[in-house]
Amino acid sequence: MARVLVTGRIPQPGIDLLEQAGHEAIVWAGPGPMPRGELLRCVEGASAVVSLISERIDAEVLTAAGPSLRVVSNVAVGYNNIDVPACSAAGVVVTNTPGVLTDATADIAMALILMVTRRLAEGERLVRSGRPWGWSMFTMLGTDIRGRQLGVVGMGQIGTALARRARAFGMSVVYSNRGEADPAAVSELGARRVEMDELFATSDVVSLHCPYTAETLHLVSAARLQTMKQTAYLINTSRGPVVDEAALVDALASGVISGVGLDVFEHEPEVHPGLLDRDDVVLLPHLGSATVETRTGMAVLAARNTVAVLAGQPPLTAVRA
Ligand code: GLV
Repeated sequence: MARVLVTGRIPQPGIDLLEQAGHEAIVWAGPGPMPRGELLRCVEGASAVVSLISERIDAEVLTAAGPSLRVVSNVAVGYNNIDVPACSAAGVVVTNTPGVLTDATADIAMALILMVTRRLAEGERLVRSGRPWGWSMFTMLGTDIRGRQLGVVGMGQIGTALARRARAFGMSVVYSNRGEADPAAVSELGARRVEMDELFATSDVVSLHCPYTAETLHLVSAARLQTMKQTAYLINTSRGPVVDEAALVDALASGVISGVGLDVFEHEPEVHPGLLDRDDVVLLPHLGSATVETRTGMAVLAARNTVAVLAGQPPLTAVRA
């Protein structure tokens, strides 16, 4: 029986899989994220860590775990909370959960596009406020997305799934990507690959789907925002630090762009106060993968990865260092 530390509550089918494979799951049940001290204490002697994005898994955790640790299974597709080179150096496999959350996250990105261009959150606030309102020809006009250009930064699975949705709404798609995007999807969508500078300068909606790495930190900087159209919107469902949030607040305040939809924040869960009282901003509490089905799929995939590595088999979805 191996000890598996699960750093926060996950859907039961994930725990069941670990236990059916004969492992002991030690789950941090809260309240709140697992305190660092608890993590360092509980990880000692564990063979596996099933980690949530709220926990940083780094050299200190690896040292606290000791030589028994064989796998860190992140219950997320993004793994910027894990020091992958340190894990590799310690011979610890790292896995994530791609695929199972693609549609749920693309749905949230599309929802943010509609919310910000059609002023949906602002309208909802108005109705709830009790302030007088009534239909009029010029009340709360938004902007059409049909015929407009979506720029996808990071044409991986989620970016491609968003592009598919945007095409159904009549948008054209350009993208920039580090590697090769899925050629079949790109040709089916009529998506055009462009340089990042062109993407930002010509798109009506820019949506971020790249991982957060040293290279993508503040990819959306003050300078980059200045290159966007004044009528453009920015959507972020990837990771907060990809956007320089202070620069974004300045850009909105000075009318450099028309609006923003954010599901993630630079200093999550803190939100820059300059975003809170603006009507051209839509703010969601990191809901990208937050459906019962998707979170269950993530827990199950993380558990299957854990069980596979502990059984000496290759993981299903390993992260490469
Ligand atoms: C959530 O943010 C994820 O990366 O899966």
